[in-house]
Amino acid sequence: MKQKLQTFIQNIPKAELHLHIEGTFEPELMFAIAQRNKIDLPYKSVEELKKAYQFSCLQDFLDIYYTGTNVLLKEEDFYDLTMAYFEKCHEQNIRHTEIMFDPQSHTDRGVSFETVIKGINQARNEAQSKYGISSLLIMSYLRHLSEESAFETLKQSLPFKEHIKAVGLDSSEKDNPPSKFERVFQASVQEGYVPLAHAGEEGSSEYIWEALKLLKIHRIDHGNRCLEDRNLIDYIIQNDIALTVCPLSNLELKVVTDLKQHPIRQMLNLGLKVTVNSDDPAYFGGQLNKNFEAIAENLNLGESDIYELVRNSFQYSLLPETEKQKHLKDLENFYQKNFFFL
Ligand code: ADE
Ligand code: ZN
Repeated sequence: MKQKLQTFIQNIPKAELHLHIEGTFEPELMFAIAQRNKIDLPYKSVEELKKAYQFSCLQDFLDIYYTGTNVLLKEEDFYDLTMAYFEKCHEQNIRHTEIMFDPQSHTDRGVSFETVIKGINQARNEAQSKYGISSLLIMSYLRHLSEESAFETLKQSLPFKEHIKAVGLDSSEKDNPPSKFERVFQASVQEGYVPLAHAGEEGSSEYIWEALKLLKIHRIDHGNRCLEDRNLIDYIIQNDIALTVCPLSNLELKVVTDLKQHPIRQMLNLGLKVTVNSDDPAYFGGQLNKNFEAIAENLNLGESDIYELVRNSFQYSLLPETEKQKHLKDLENFYQKNFFFL
């Protein structure tokens, strides 16, 4: 790709809105933490683990992803994991990030909610003071588990409510429709959490309707399959709801067969508010900037498209309005300064 565009992608200040902290777990760190906690991974080496990263669908990936999380036991493990991600944010000029975490994948193994959140928060505070990177937390319910388990997680979260901005819904989408979680989302909203959910990644457009109408989500994670339903597209546009799209994830999980066929350009053309995100970068072969590079290259996007996508990510963040405006102003200044030289 053109060096100038690559530099532009590197330097433009960005936000990331769809990122699972457990999906940032690089094999090297996973092995180091496994060793220090004396836990055996079902892979002999980093190389063997990396070789297993070949997925034919979402479930293939989730099986490995949950195996990886098993080595996380202590506060320092969650701190190390999260700090490693913030180092990547700093390198890529990500100025704000909204981080999902899956409490049930830890509490089900006997790790306390407090351990998870304290470790993550220590890194968040350090990233803010050291690099000026702001962040928010999204507590995601695992949709393959029961409604009861989600309610229990909601209860466990309450002492830490001030640190959590939103609730999400992730894991195996097929056969786990949003309707299964209608009541727990209602209770979560009553506690002050903003409702978000994965929908239309592998599940049909009907699941997106359910997430919008029953869970009343403010943003759609993925949402690719909205393109099957013209009424749904209109509804999403009219209600000003953004999509957090993850190109390399879509490729690796066979949501798309080829990046040249990735729908993000079509989504932009339709007037949908799309953002670019890395989802689980340690597993899908690229951090956020690589996701931008991949779509720019395969779909012939230019600087103005990248600018629009990045602007959406600040615009549709969950930041307070004043902070949002500050980021948008910085972004506009960057664009004006760099546009003259293009
Ligand atoms: N958990 C982590 N990444 C996910 C994805 N892409 N879809 C559903 N659940 C996930
Ligand atoms: Zn995701």
